[in-house]
Amino acid sequence: MSSVSIQHNVKDLITPFLAGKFYSKIGVLTDENTERFCYPLVKDGLPGHELIVIPAGEEHKNLATCQQVWEKLTELHFDRHSLVLIVGGGVLGDLGGFCAATYKRGVDFVLMPTTLLAQVDASVGGKLGIDFQNFKNHIGVFCNPVITLISPDFLKTLPERELRSGFAEVIKHCLISDKSIWRTIKEKTLANQDWNALIEHSVAFKKRVVENDPKESGLRKILNFGHTVGHAVESYFLDSGNRIFFMARQLP
Ligand code: GLY
Repeated sequence: MSSVSIQHNVKDLITPFLAGKFYSKIGVLTDENTERFCYPLVKDGLPGHELIVIPAGEEHKNLATCQQVWEKLTELHFDRHSLVLIVGGGVLGDLGGFCAATYKRGVDFVLMPTTLLAQVDASVGGKLGIDFQNFKNHIGVFCNPVITLISPDFLKTLPERELRSGFAEVIKHCLISDKSIWRTIKEKTLANQDWNALIEHSVAFKKRVVENDPKESGLRKILNFGHTVGHAVESYFLDSGNRIFFMARQLP
């Protein structure tokens, strides 16, 4: 398992990580949203680098987007001694990590998750991959980043709906592992939660589970609580945009 560093200031995350390291090239991978809202917080902490931007959204977590990333890395002469810093939510981490883990049989990559959901879930545990033929996460690998760098400051860039989505995962971790924190968080509104403490708690819990069962042959399945049905619904909607229209018409 790779390490996870949690700090408010993004520079304080990047500078110690890069100290004493030499990378032939550094690439920052973002999507259109994180380029706008998160990259400005990241770029000042970095030496010279290339920026690669992909379209945002689960519908782009596919082979065509991987091809764009691999083409760009090739065009920019990234080699085995290069680093890819992935700045984004779960889709970007899954796809970007998969591209980095397979480009030239694997280059170093760092995850910098920018949504609460990615910070407490996808950034730990090395699951990387893409959707294929409308099956979610159908092609992928287990491979860990060199480090995961988490700044709760990124949460300020999120719409409330996105924060709620990550909060559901935090609640799930508390329900599985820690009654006392569950009691504390249910007394507070969303705006009053102590995100630093909750992220640390979730990351520590997930690390414990994954260290015990990295490839999900037993214990790690507890983390799929809620995901299995969620992934089935997502696969269903990936299959046809028309269904969304159909379902919307059925709603009262
Ligand atoms: N998201 C569940 C897991 O990483 O196993």
